[in-house]
Amino acid sequence: MTQIKKICCIGAGYVGGPTCAVIALKCPHIQVTIVDLNQKRIDAWNSDELPIYEPGLDEVVKEARGRNLFFSTDVDKAIAEADLIFVSVNTPTKKSGIGAGFAADLKFLQLATRRIAEVATSPKIVVEKSTVPCRTADSMRTILEANHRPGVTFDILSNPEFLAEGTAISDLFAPDRVLIGSLQTKSGLAACAALAEVYANWVPKERILTVGLWSSELSKLAANAMLAQRISSVNALSAVCEATGANIDEVAYAVGKDTRVGAKFLKASVGFGGSCFQKDILNLVYLAESLHLPEVARYWRAVVEMNEYQKDRFSRKVVETLFNTITGKKIAILGWAFKKDTGDTRESPSISIANHFLEEKARITIYDPKVTEEQIWLDLTDEGTKSLEPIKPHITIQKSAEEACKDAEAIVICTEWDEFKTLDWQKIYDNCPRPAFVFDGRLMLDRAALQKIGFKVITIGTGD
Ligand code: NAD
Ligand code: UGA
Repeated sequence: MTQIKKICCIGAGYVGGPTCAVIALKCPHIQVTIVDLNQKRIDAWNSDELPIYEPGLDEVVKEARGRNLFFSTDVDKAIAEADLIFVSVNTPTKKSGIGAGFAADLKFLQLATRRIAEVATSPKIVVEKSTVPCRTADSMRTILEANHRPGVTFDILSNPEFLAEGTAISDLFAPDRVLIGSLQTKSGLAACAALAEVYANWVPKERILTVGLWSSELSKLAANAMLAQRISSVNALSAVCEATGANIDEVAYAVGKDTRVGAKFLKASVGFGGSCFQKDILNLVYLAESLHLPEVARYWRAVVEMNEYQKDRFSRKVVETLFNTITGKKIAILGWAFKKDTGDTRESPSISIANHFLEEKARITIYDPKVTEEQIWLDLTDEGTKSLEPIKPHITIQKSAEEACKDAEAIVICTEWDEFKTLDWQKIYDNCPRPAFVFDGRLMLDRAALQKIGFKVITIGTGD
């Protein structure tokens, strides 16, 4: 069996960075080089100010960096030296052309694959780490075989990543499972065993699952679709709770006690965000449509539609409660990241909610403990494609929750940051006009305590 001595990871993002840093930490005998075309990102990985915020990541990087973990923009050198190459590049939803709005844009993956073919002078195990449509390994193989140098052979594996942001390091240290898909040929199975051996340095063998390539690729889309479907289910029920006087936390608790359902991932919210759930479900919808399975496509599309409904419903509730107009009113948004413990804002519900408030011509103050001001402006201008001028006078970004809430007619909790629980709510109340509203989009605050202070509290999924 091939003994892996050098690993290259193409893509130093939210997945490539933490995943391969943990591999380096747990496998001191393997040299791991993480490469990216983005010089700024690589410089940050080589500095004290890492490009992503993730609890525990600093410690992992500090221990391994310079020992057997390296960050570089020299993609070709890292490819040439490696026995095994993770491809961990972004696979966003296509914005134009065939499948626009649904299919995955595989241009980054294909460019990286082509580069591997052009540079490699020795056999390589090429691992899809990115989330990809089912049978992507086929097109990678075609690209590799059409462009490789004489005598160079490739094995392709699928090894999707299941970490969640905010808990990436603990997820990587103790994964529920590691999934490796390979062709069931002699060489495919040998490559699979070589990668399994890497993980076996810290993951119990029974948690390393080996399956066929297509099952592995599809399992990743299926896992995300089913996780997101739980949230849309509970969010759909939260609307019923609001209309009936039931309480969604109580309903979710009662339902989740059934061991066949399970308690996790049943927290009602302003809607799910993050770079993957929506993208991967739309990808599955596209796959189903391409396979002439319209009923299947419709079923999964409804999960995304319910999420849009939830974000919109919450925004409308704020406007309706504030006597049907928020024009000129000051609204504080607490939390900009798509969940706590990350600085990532991709597809964050806060963005949709803020845009809704902007359409209503409110004055908005925003606070998030980990998202930079620069990022918030980028999000509000659709990555700089929309003009900043019309919105700038309506938005203030603050450095503390207290500052953001000062004089606000409504405080809207969008992200469940722990610090929001322990704010000096009395002081905040004293600085707000009356009536003072709190909209808890995460069901995280002590409702009774806030009501005792004098706040009017509106919570997702409760009728009163
Ligand atoms: P990201 O955008 O944070 O990182 C991708 C990186 O790849 C970028 O830094 C980009 O510059 C680099 N890149 C693109 N093309 C390149 C090339 N040809 N050569 C070198 N570098 C290149 O993306 P991410 O969040 O890390 O996601 C990567 C993949 O992992 C996606 O397919 C995603 O669906 C999947 N995934 C993400 C998560 C998550 O929590 N973010 C979890 C599981 C799976
Ligand atoms: C998710 C999956 O959990 C990971 O397993 C997967 O690897 C990853 O997507 C991916 O492929 O990118 P992530 O998006 O980082 O991870 O974070 P989650 O914890 O899943 O949260 C996603 C969104 O759902 C957040 O906005 C979160 O606030 C929301 N959520 C989550 C709820 O509203 N309720 C819940 O009960 C759980």
